[in-house]
This record gives sequence, structure tokens and C-alpha cells, in this order.
Amino acid sequence: MTADPLTTLRARFDAAIAKAFPDEDLGTIDPLITGAKNPQHGDFQANVAMSLGKRLQKKPRDVAQAIVDAIELDDFCDAPEIAGPGFINLRLKTDALGDALGAMRDAGLGVPAPERVQHVVVDLCGVNLAKQMHVGHLRATVIGDAIARLWERLGHTVTRQNHFGDWGLPIAMVTGVLKARRDAGELNIEDLSLADLENAYRLAQLESSRGQAEMRAIKKHQLGPKAEAEWEDEFTQGTAARESARESLVALQEGDPGMREVWERISRVTLDACFDNCRRLNANVTEAATAGESTYRSELGQVVADLESRGVAEESDGALVVRLNEYGIKEPALIRKRDGGFLYATTDLAAIRRRVRGLGAERVIYAVDARQSLHFRQVFAAALKAGYATRADGVEAELSHAAFGMVLGEDGGPFKTRSGDNVKLSDLLDEAVERAEKAVAEKNPDLDADERRAVARAVGIGAIKHADLSNERSRDYVFGFDRMLAFEGNTGPYVQYAVVRTGSMLRKAEERLGVTPDERATILPEAPEERALSLALLRYAGALEQAAMHAEPHRVCTALYEIASSFSSFFASCPALAAEDDATRDSRLALAALTGRVLRDGLGVLGIETPHRM
Ligand code: ARG
Repeated sequence: MTADPLTTLRARFDAAIAKAFPDEDLGTIDPLITGAKNPQHGDFQANVAMSLGKRLQKKPRDVAQAIVDAIELDDFCDAPEIAGPGFINLRLKTDALGDALGAMRDAGLGVPAPERVQHVVVDLCGVNLAKQMHVGHLRATVIGDAIARLWERLGHTVTRQNHFGDWGLPIAMVTGVLKARRDAGELNIEDLSLADLENAYRLAQLESSRGQAEMRAIKKHQLGPKAEAEWEDEFTQGTAARESARESLVALQEGDPGMREVWERISRVTLDACFDNCRRLNANVTEAATAGESTYRSELGQVVADLESRGVAEESDGALVVRLNEYGIKEPALIRKRDGGFLYATTDLAAIRRRVRGLGAERVIYAVDARQSLHFRQVFAAALKAGYATRADGVEAELSHAAFGMVLGEDGGPFKTRSGDNVKLSDLLDEAVERAEKAVAEKNPDLDADERRAVARAVGIGAIKHADLSNERSRDYVFGFDRMLAFEGNTGPYVQYAVVRTGSMLRKAEERLGVTPDERATILPEAPEERALSLALLRYAGALEQAAMHAEPHRVCTALYEIASSFSSFFASCPALAAEDDATRDSRLALAALTGRVLRDGLGVLGIETPHRM
């Protein structure tokens, strides 16, 4: 007995179709079974008669009748009913539903072991040196981590890769500026905070852009020598800053010890803050998962030389590009600038080579902002063209961009602070926990201060993560604390609260009965609410699989919400302790126990903690 009734139904339909139309060479036919739209018509419906009717030039209702006459379902379903143009409505027998739940309970909540274990690399987080994590990194971290957890849950091997932006001209620039201040005795790099770093970065960038755009405009529009003279000083200072940034880059690349020391320190400060946020977010991003752009620096020259020598890349205007027309991409990927510098795309090509050939990944999933989608289309195509996406054993890895949309403010614009700055992720997490603490205090005034804070952490962080994950990933969403912290609707707290209720239901039963309820009791879902909950539970494993395949964690949120809301109706209409007989009571308690397990498991897949009380 498999947990998923769909598997059984499909097999029975296959056999029935072959038996009903023995003379036709139909090949494999999808019986098109879906959940019933209206539970009054049953649990499932098979829609195959319409398409098959067309193909066989027969009336769909006749085809449906022939299938129903041929099918063997007595042990599994009530007599199928034909409706409308030829829908076949199916209603599982109570025992069959109970057996399926039992099978699910025994075997990994219905998640089968993988036929073949895959090695999946998930590119996530991707913070940048000398920068605070902001709300955009929330998505890259939380979505990436959920995708990684999904694949792990399905039994695959996952390697997380935090593509830390720690190399290149702007980074050398800030390193150079800080080193100069240190050398002048103005700065102790041991005391450097991330906020200092961010300021230094901003200043350095301002400095190097002084007068540059203005001078370009003056030249372009031929505004004359007077205008040029007015901007001359600014321009010269900006140019000098750029010049010294380039010198800093050379010094850093050549391993100048002072530059290295300062660079290492600022890397450390940035990463410590990043890991701190990830820990608070319950996202598994650690030092071991971090492979910064700098770790590819010695490979970039080889990559470019390899592409050039094999004719994969070609010169264009002094630069080196990979043309991608054959992949339907007009814009070639730029991999070496005219001045010899390498680019973001060059590093990403080296990263694919290492991940696929070195680590042996057969699937690489990038949780990165949708605004980088052209970049990834180019890099993936260039990697295919170069053969970098092919493993040593000849398997071609699947590269996919799990692109996400923006986080918007209530006004529909990008999510910013009142003063127009990016919202710091750590501030956002603080506020979520603070607000959750108020909500929890209201809901459960009995919790002592320590427990209340622990619960508030789980609820506040869970709310932020759930709000981010429950939206279709490619869409923008509006960030709103009130909505995400609500105890009603498709929210983190709602699902967490459902788990708490399953727990308290079992605890109460234990108190009143004086024995621990038998979680393994036979489940007999008779009442409509019990049936609805059972069917929602049976869909769980399929939802995980679909969510992993499409890299869409929101499918897990949807499945959990269906389970939690069915549980809520069940809880309201199907009393356990006051049940008419012991078998019904035990069945209901076992159903609640299974619900708790599944919801907990699902929240775990999303990286959301479940408190015992709320
Ligand atoms: N650091 C990059 C950014 O902030 C994100 C890195 C994404 N990963 C990658 N392999 N390119 O935009």
C-alpha cells in the first residue's frame, strides 16, 4: 500500500483503460486525476474520458462508462459516478483513506526514498563585502535555504554555496582607503564595525565618482571651457581616487601583505555579521558554505585562456566575449574587459566549472534576484557552450535560476526606511521579534518572561520567513508586519498555532484519560472534516516533491495552510474526548497527532521553528 491514493488510482485506471479498449493501441495514457473541485462530488475526479473520447471519436460519457465498467475499485472507492460531459467522480472508502494515512505515518510521512540520490548545489545568500545585509538578502538567504532543505528532505545531497562578493575594484578601493587610514594611525582595524565599513565604502565610492558624470555631460553636450574649468577640480579628485583604487586592486591581487591584512579583517567583520543574521534566521549558511568570489581569482585567467584557446570566446573591440546567439541570446557574455579586468560573469563561469566538475553537482540552483536574470541566462549558456556544465561522467548538470521578485513597502515602492535608506535585515528581525512578543503576551499571558521571549523569537522570525516564502517567488510582495504576524490566514503564526493545538489536544486527552493516546491507532475518517483533513495530509509528500522540482517553497506553504485550516475545521466539529465511542476517539487523536507531525515537518523544511506553546 502506498501512501498516495493517486498512485493507486492511476494504476487502476491504466488497467481499466487497457481492458475497456483492447483493440486500440493507446500507449500510456494519463488518466488526468485531480482533487475534486467540490467535496460533495467526491475526493477525486478523473477527466480522461473527454480527451480519450476525442481521440477515439466516441462520446466522452460512453468512454467514461466503459472505463467505469472495466475498473476494479471495489476495495478502494465507492461506486464511481459519471457527471457532466464525462467526469468520473471518485470517493475513497473510509478504510482505504485510513490505510493510506497509516502507510504515510509509517514511512517518512509519505515521502519515498529517492530512486537516485542527486548532488544539488544551492547558491544562496550572496552578501557583499563591507555591506550590511538588507531585505534583498533576506530573500536570497531564506528562499535558498528552503530550497536546500527541500532537496535534503527528499533524500538528496545538498551543498550550499554562499557566493560572497569579496573581490573586485570597489572592494580594493575601500580596502585601500582603510589601509591608508590605518597606516596614518587614524584607525584600529580591530575595532572596525560593519557600520564603519559601510560608511567607508560609501565615502570611497562618492570620492571616486566626483566630477565624473558631470565632466562626461559637459563634453557630450559641448558646454564649453567655462563649464569644464568649473568642474576641473572635482574631476581631478575623482580621477585620482579612481587611479588609486586601481593601484589598490593591483596591490591586493599581488598579495601585498598590508592590503591583505586589512582585506581579511573587513571580510571577517562582514561575514561575522552575515552568519549572525543567518543564525537568527535559522538559515543554514556557515563558513563552510561560503565560497567567496575571491576564491576563484586564480582560476579566472585559466578559464579565460581556455575559452579563448578553444574558440568559445572571441575578441570584440578589444574585449573578450562569448557569443550566445545559438542559445537565443543576443547580448554576448563579456568575460574580459578591454583593460584586462575580469567580470562578475567570469567568476560565475569559474564557479559553475568548480561546482559541476569539482564538486560533482548535477543540479545547481541559484536563489538570486530576478533582476539578474539576463546575467544567468548568459552565464548558463556560456557554460553549456564551454562544456563547464558537464560532469566528469558525462552527465550534463541542470542549471537553474530560482529568481525572486522585490520586497516592496506599503506604498508599493521599494522597501526603504523613512529616510530612504535600505532597511537593515538585523533591524527588521529585531522589530519582528519585538512585535511578536507583544502578540504572544496578549494571546498567552501565562508564559513566563524567558519562555515568552523564546516563543517570540520563533514566531517573529517564522512570520518574516513565512511571509517571504509563501508568495510565489518570482513576484514582488509587500512587506507588512501586521499581516505576517496575524494568527489568521496563510501566515507563519497560523501554522505554528495549529501545531500547538494538536499538541494541546493530545495533552488534554492524556490528562483526562490517564494514558498517552495511541498515536498509532487506526484512523477512520468518517466525518467530512476528517476526510478533508486526511486528503490534505495525503497531498503533503507530493507538494514537497513539486516544490523541490520547481524550486518553489510557496507550494509547501500552501499545502501546510490547507492542512492547518482543515485541522481547524476538524477541531471545531469533531470532538475527540466527547466522541461517541473509543474507536472514534482514538482515531481522532491519532489524526491530530499525524497532523502535528506533518506540520512540524513542513515548517522544518521551510526552516521555521515550532514552539510547543504560544
Ligand atoms: N553578490 C551578488 C549580489 O549581491 C549575488 C551573488 C549571487 N550568486 C552568484 N553566483 N552570482 O548581487
